[in-house]
Amino acid sequence: MPQYKFPENFFWGSAASGPQTEGAAAVGGRKDSIWDYWYKTNPEKFHNNVGPQNTSNWYNQYKEDIQLMKQTGHNSFRTSIQWSRLIPDGVGEVNPEAVDFYNRIIDEMIANGVEPFMNLFHFDMPMAMQEIGGWENRKVVDAYVEYAKTAFELFGDRVKFWATHNEPIVVVEAGYMYDFHYPNVIDFKRAVQVAYHNVLSHALAVKAYRALGLDGKIGIILNLTPSYPRSEDPADVKAAHIADLFFNRSFLDPVVKGEFPAELVEILKKHDMLPEADPKDVAEIKNNIMDILGVNYYQPRRVKAKETPVDPNEPFMPEFYFDNYEMPGRKMNVHRGWEIYEKAIYDMAIDIRDNYGNFPFWISENGMGVEGEAKFKNEDGSIDDDYRIEFISDHLKWLHKAIDEGANCFGYHLWTCMDNWSWTNAYKNRYGLIEVDIYDNYKRRIKKSGKWYKALSDNNGF
Ligand code: BG6
Repeated sequence: MPQYKFPENFFWGSAASGPQTEGAAAVGGRKDSIWDYWYKTNPEKFHNNVGPQNTSNWYNQYKEDIQLMKQTGHNSFRTSIQWSRLIPDGVGEVNPEAVDFYNRIIDEMIANGVEPFMNLFHFDMPMAMQEIGGWENRKVVDAYVEYAKTAFELFGDRVKFWATHNEPIVVVEAGYMYDFHYPNVIDFKRAVQVAYHNVLSHALAVKAYRALGLDGKIGIILNLTPSYPRSEDPADVKAAHIADLFFNRSFLDPVVKGEFPAELVEILKKHDMLPEADPKDVAEIKNNIMDILGVNYYQPRRVKAKETPVDPNEPFMPEFYFDNYEMPGRKMNVHRGWEIYEKAIYDMAIDIRDNYGNFPFWISENGMGVEGEAKFKNEDGSIDDDYRIEFISDHLKWLHKAIDEGANCFGYHLWTCMDNWSWTNAYKNRYGLIEVDIYDNYKRRIKKSGKWYKALSDNNGF
């Protein structure tokens, strides 16, 4: 009998995304997304100059990979459809080869007892849509909703768990604030417009899903990085609260409560940063609340009150209100440079229980990235990743406690099943239960954590 037993029918599995695993980027009628374009123009931005062309060859090896999922205890798996594969120009013709491919992977998962969770957008704007302004353009919202509706019509008879977006705040931060993803804009006002259109596109996709009368559930996946204040001093607490408004509540409130937080709206108004918003669209956000929430969690955010006064001539950024804080003595994943703070998973679950009507959620990503993991190989080439087993079990203990105290969590998905390509970090940080040797034909090999995960799932606990 496991010490930490999870609820019946709990989903165990992992998450990945189409652009990070499919490969076959220029095959099967697909056209460029912003990632293909950016790699063509700036390959030096990518770790070791490795781009999105091949990734892990899931496009061709999905049958073998689904068997590996079974061997590593998956009863569910999340990936994403690539918009640029299904509707290569963003709008208009549906690509029959893509329909065939996604049908095949969905059917194969179901035939093997792996419940498909399908996401619709994982940072991968089709280039044709970016050329007309991407998420800044209201027309792209309509194009996305058409794409979502097409996916629901084609696959919604078998896919019962849908997500509209993965980590939309990353699209905002990375693409429009801090210059680490294409289109490399640094402009907070434009960032707010992008965020608002992401929320709107989500609500309209939920509406389109409901209109089809399908019997599954639909939600969004948010990286709810909690903000912890340096101290209980009111200035630190306020700083953390404002960071939380910008980076968490900005998405969490509208998708669960139908409204943006009033305090955030006030701050944006004060700095003349409100987006252009048609009242009819605002009503759609209010009226189309989703069914389920995906929560990604890797590391906490620590915040302190501002130490130096803000220069009023500087362009506005949320950091007008707080400084980031490095807590002395924090526990680190030294292989990725991220803090490890397991209790945050509990804090988030309790926050959702108490402040968001105990909304149903699953942990949609959590995991441990390791740079240079090959250095841990045994003589026979196998990897005994005890550090990953410890990372997962330490987080699961806190998740278990939250569930015990009434949190409404129905699954845990690790990032990720197989080592995969990760945006500008390419293959730098490995997260998989299964190693993928990119230098030897993408050969797969289950790590120790993969075997451990199988026992975890079989026992529904540990
Ligand atoms: C998650 C993203 O936040 O982080 C994934 O959803 C990404 O797409 C993962 O691959 C790991 O990121 P990194 O930078 O450590 O490789």
